[in-house]
Amino acid sequence: MKTLIKNSTVVLPDAEERCDVLIENGVIAVIGAAVHTQADEVIDAAGLHLLPGVIDDQVHFREPGLTHKEDLRTASRACARGGVTSFLEMPNTRPATISCDALHEKLALAADRSLVNYGFYIGATPDNVVELQRARRTPGIKIFIGSSTGNLLVDEQEALERIFAETSLPICAHCEDEATVRANSAALNGGSDYADHSRIRDNKAAIIATRRAVELAERHRHQFHVLHVSTAEEIEFLRTTSELISGEACPHHLLFSTDDYQRLGSLVQMNPSIKSPADVEAVWQGLLQGVLEVVATDHAPHTLAEKQQPYPQSPSGLPAVENSLALMLNQVHYGRCTLAQVVQWMCSAPARIWSLKGKGAIREGFDADLVLVDLSLKQEVRNEQQLTRCGWSPWHGETLTGWPVRTLVHGQTVWCAGQFDEQVRGREIEFDRSA
Ligand code: DOR
Repeated sequence: MKTLIKNSTVVLPDAEERCDVLIENGVIAVIGAAVHTQADEVIDAAGLHLLPGVIDDQVHFREPGLTHKEDLRTASRACARGGVTSFLEMPNTRPATISCDALHEKLALAADRSLVNYGFYIGATPDNVVELQRARRTPGIKIFIGSSTGNLLVDEQEALERIFAETSLPICAHCEDEATVRANSAALNGGSDYADHSRIRDNKAAIIATRRAVELAERHRHQFHVLHVSTAEEIEFLRTTSELISGEACPHHLLFSTDDYQRLGSLVQMNPSIKSPADVEAVWQGLLQGVLEVVATDHAPHTLAEKQQPYPQSPSGLPAVENSLALMLNQVHYGRCTLAQVVQWMCSAPARIWSLKGKGAIREGFDADLVLVDLSLKQEVRNEQQLTRCGWSPWHGETLTGWPVRTLVHGQTVWCAGQFDEQVRGREIEFDRSA
């Protein structure tokens, strides 16, 4: 099967070029000016930009166990519409993904249901080092150093030392210090309004845990990725760390601040919490200056009924995979960053950090996971149009400029102009750890 994408502006690793892209059997075969070849399908993409598909390295898709919020089919459809062609999913499902058997069961579920490519982290517990050592079909290990949704928590120093010392897969962590969170919560009697969430999960909780995890990683010479960095203190600290350490920002920490609780209440209740406008600015500067390398969503759907409970019963998390690329393209539209930076943060950096084979760039020989975007298309985010099963977005009512219009997974169009090809299936992501 040959597909030819003609006339788009292609975002290549080092340049943007008006050229054609020929896909053969799911792989990018030729990139060049006016490729003359017979193709089974010709896509005229004049006026559009061709980007590598987004790789979202931090999502919670709830299957197995919590499928009233989301499942692999609803989530992967939302991905396809959002231009996300590969996802790496977190282990806090029910049961949690803390053994190789649970990991392989999830991979089998995804093979059956997912419209885009998939990978799953294995979760650390205080006593599953043997499983962490045996796991192969995974990007790496996730540690909750600080509890969040679900019951995965590794807080004792001895257990953390073992994980960093005795495993070799890359590690990422949710960094919020449990003792600080508990003390803050006790001081506020558990908290009574949504804004208390940011007082309980405060800057101190984030920086203490991030420092602690980075110290472990550097001492044990372990590759380590700090998920969802939210504070100015962490940015300053991460400027000083070694090449073993990478960091990530989420759209909600770039686009919402504590000022938004009044308007959005629990819809912006997340872990780590939303922080002050000064922290938002610091996270932006961290990204723009290369202190943080990745933008990923932490997509964490909960139903509106669950979210509408009073604090602190309201769960933490918000959905984002179907809007994340548009949210960042909208920032390009406003001149906050460039298209090349968005591609680095959302495509090439996650592929590099997690050693994804053949992904993250438009390059001959790479997988044809691609997204065509219209940088001038203006569309409003509407709750009733969301594909995530939870059916809402904290960006409801916002008009964004720059949207995906067609998504290809291994050369097959999975979504275009509002239509899905429900036959398309993503593939298990492979990891190239030879280096
Ligand atoms: O707010 C959050 N929700 N943060 C997390 O780390 C987990 C997530 C969830 O799974 O609901």
